[in-house]
Amino acid sequence: MSEKKQIRIGLIGTGLMGRIHTNGYKRLGDFFPEYAYRPVLQVACSRREEKSRAFAEQWGYASYETDWKKVIERDDVDAVDICTPNDTHAEIAIAAAKAGKMILCEKPLARTLEEAEEMVKVIEGAGVRNTVWYNYRRVPAVTLAKQLVDSGKLGKIFHYRANFLQDWTISPDLPQGGDALWRLDADAAGSGVTGDLLAHCIDTAMWLNGGIKDVSAMTETFIKERVHQSSGEKKKVGIDDACTFHCHFDNGSLGLFEATRYARGHKALYTFEINGEHASIRWDLHDLNRLEYFDHRDESIVRGWRSIHVTDGDQPYMDRWWIPGTSIGYEHSFIHQVADFFKSLEGDDPCAPTFKDAYETQKVCQAVLDSAASRSWKDTGVDW
Ligand SMILES: NC(=O)c1ccc[n+]([C@@H]2O[C@H](COP(=O)([O-])OP(=O)(O)OC[C@H]3O[C@@H](n4cnc5c(N)ncnc54)[C@H](O)[C@@H]3O)[C@@H](O)[C@H]2O)c1
Repeated sequence: MSEKKQIRIGLIGTGLMGRIHTNGYKRLGDFFPEYAYRPVLQVACSRREEKSRAFAEQWGYASYETDWKKVIERDDVDAVDICTPNDTHAEIAIAAAKAGKMILCEKPLARTLEEAEEMVKVIEGAGVRNTVWYNYRRVPAVTLAKQLVDSGKLGKIFHYRANFLQDWTISPDLPQGGDALWRLDADAAGSGVTGDLLAHCIDTAMWLNGGIKDVSAMTETFIKERVHQSSGEKKKVGIDDACTFHCHFDNGSLGLFEATRYARGHKALYTFEINGEHASIRWDLHDLNRLEYFDHRDESIVRGWRSIHVTDGDQPYMDRWWIPGTSIGYEHSFIHQVADFFKSLEGDDPCAPTFKDAYETQKVCQAVLDSAASRSWKDTGVDW
């Protein structure tokens, strides 16, 4: 440990992502032992003292704060990890960049394109290391999909299709706002499923298949009013409960995307399928170690969908884990992102997706929302 260079982490937000990122920092040294840099769990921050202290004790942080500004002011913090709701990302990231800290920010980058633009301007101006946690890129089966597409095995791409389906907001009794339910409050979240779920699908899609040129979208808010937790009063719901859009990619292929929190029976069904001239691939988060692959060039009598269990040592990231045939999980995508970020510190290359990459995804999200509002096609202006 002593010869390793230490990066002292200031973690802001101790909910779901606070836990899963911390798990990533804790695993790095065990599974990527030769890497030159090591995270140090320096300070954890959430607003309530009791919660902040308990989190720091449970997860092994050396200290805690209750005001994120204090984390940024501290000289003993090198990297700020933003795990708070979307309405705080811009303010925290901009302050962290001005203080010269590295920044790891949760997705979506911001609530709006304007916020995201300002963030990219300040972060790039400050020249600080940064990454945004679009973690699905680092599920080994998804990384393998990228390798297959880049190798040309699929040939010319015709179709890209993605879904992200959930069912947890169907009850009209569910309030909006506050701790667990900030996702239903447009002021905190910016948008509904577009920023929360489709942003993931869009990041993966552009990574695999290139820029999205234009979009035509529709959104729906099925429950129009919900009680707001802060006032106890019924308030108009400003988020999109469901969103469907189709699009053109720069490479000429067609895209079809759907996200909803009203698909009864689905908890987090993120799937994508790509159809090319020679081959197709598809992936499903509920069976995340598998990549399905169909190759038309196979001998016809054995031609069919192959179900590839992506757990062998020569498949992405899997040489770090157990033995071939044994699965890993959701949390490993975050461990891999921690590993790739720390590896990137050994050289000059950034750890994608950077703020700039996430800004391009934000452009598509904005175009989707604008298209739905105006009932018209919108150019995204994406520069991929
Ligand atoms: N990459 C992914 O797959 C993924 C998954 C879930 C959430 N997210 C993103 O992560 C972020 C956090 O989501 P979550 O699910 O962890 O939310 P959460 O509600 O579980 O946790 C949010 C935490 O932030 C704290 N917080 C809120 N405002 C704060 C402030 N001003 N100062 C300090 N702490 C504050 C809350 O107390 C809570 O501990 C969101 O941007 C969300 O979109 C990403």
